[in-house]
Amino acid sequence: MKGLILYTSKYGSTERYAQWLSQDTGFALARTSDADINTVLQYDTIVLGGCVHASSIGGISFLKRHIDTLRGKRILVFCCAASPYEESTFRVLVEHNLAGKLQGIPCFFCRGAFDMKLMSFGDRTLCRMLRKAVAKKDPKDLEPWESALISVGEDEAADWTDRSYLEPILQELTKGS
Ligand SMILES: Cc1cc2nc3c(=O)[nH]c(=O)nc-3n(C[C@H](O)[C@H](O)[C@H](O)COP(=O)(O)O)c2cc1C
Repeated sequence: MKGLILYTSKYGSTERYAQWLSQDTGFALARTSDADINTVLQYDTIVLGGCVHASSIGGISFLKRHIDTLRGKRILVFCCAASPYEESTFRVLVEHNLAGKLQGIPCFFCRGAFDMKLMSFGDRTLCRMLRKAVAKKDPKDLEPWESALISVGEDEAADWTDRSYLEPILQELTKGS
């Protein structure tokens, strides 16, 4: 099985998962933004990993653009987010990102990291605004992503990356191979 892992990562956690997966599978690795569809077509299996920013999985536009060309390929997606896994939130995220012709593509969850000190000015400003809005809410009404957002102080850093998140992906890849 010849495979390629394409990834989109702004602050490094999705890249770390992509590298771990490449070590575990022997699949080639490339940034989605550098990917050329003619090169991608040389692989049987394509794993696309993307960081979650404002509920969008990075790099999904590449799949949307090329899904017809990629017909017959085995495609898997994984996303990397700060929120802890929660079934209904994850289902909504998948429905939102893997709609239309992308519907049915298996999607996996990997928990990422959160460090406002590393963020660009724009991202940090956005996170500050969100944190202020969330802090005003009653704690019992918070969504999992809202609790995660305020659980890490501005001067702190959280890193939830864990290789075990890749196990379901590795299991899926061994199915039928
Ligand atoms: C502007 C911005 C928006 C984000 N939106 C979400 C979100 O909607 N849901 C979530 O769980 N995490 C969100 N995050 C957290 C990232 O998904 C998390 O930090 C992830 O590890 C980023 O992956 P990366 O390190 O590969 O860029 C957001 C982070 C930033 C900076």
